[in-house]
Amino acid sequence: MVQINRISISDLAAFKKRGEKWAMLTCYEQMTAEIFDEAQIPVLLVGDSAGNNFLGEENTIPVTVDELIPLARAVVNSTSRAMVVADFPFGSYESGPDAALATGIRFFKEAKAHAVKLEGGAKVVPQIKRLIEAGIPVMGHLGLTPQSVHAIGGFKVQGRGDDGARIMADAKALEAAGVFAIVLELVPEELAEEIAKSLSIPIIGIGAGAKCDAQVLVWTDLMGITKNAPKLAKAYRNLRLEMLNAAKEFAVDVSGGQFPGPEQTFH
Ligand code: KIV
Repeated sequence: MVQINRISISDLAAFKKRGEKWAMLTCYEQMTAEIFDEAQIPVLLVGDSAGNNFLGEENTIPVTVDELIPLARAVVNSTSRAMVVADFPFGSYESGPDAALATGIRFFKEAKAHAVKLEGGAKVVPQIKRLIEAGIPVMGHLGLTPQSVHAIGGFKVQGRGDDGARIMADAKALEAAGVFAIVLELVPEELAEEIAKSLSIPIIGIGAGAKCDAQVLVWTDLMGITKNAPKLAKAYRNLRLEMLNAAKEFAVDVSGGQFPGPEQTFH
């Protein structure tokens, strides 16, 4: 069997050293995993955004580890090149390092994920250290952290003015704890640039301007499937309309007797 090496945390570190920007996409199942791997997207995130993009929830908070594990396993099984990062859902790590390690072990053994991501700054450093000690690479997530949406009071830009110092301090704490990259969500471009320049690990922006080392989007936003996509996203296609029209055409063909045609018929 030909073994293709997957993208590793050392490859991502090398991209940063060489100033090469890269893309990350969320992914929740087999077909998109195959397509995004073929497109050579280096990192696929099985995000808890599965909550509001796959599982029909209002936000990410109700998502569980049990729900994400089969999605992450499908993405790992359907790719050969991408690094697959599994997101820690709300409630699976906040209580401390033991809980975080238990979640990390489940994602590693049951989903075969290659790294994990969790939200939060200095307060989750003990959890991060325990995971890294166990050999589980960790990606951080700062700025707008959707699991704290109720505490934050909505999906608002974070780190404006003096608040930027708090996010910078958290980013430095995460780097010192050993994370291999940080997602920076919904912060002013100037702050993101300062953080990307100050840290030696990749900063992955989402609504954080063009100066980050990498960019991530939720795949349904990228493809124009999400009904009300956030302002930070760009739709590269309108697959919602394409799929709507295909479904309508199929229904019309069935009711009019045009489907199945001779090509789809057996004798
Ligand atoms: O869950 C997710 O999709 C994320 C990205 C928005 C970074 O955390």
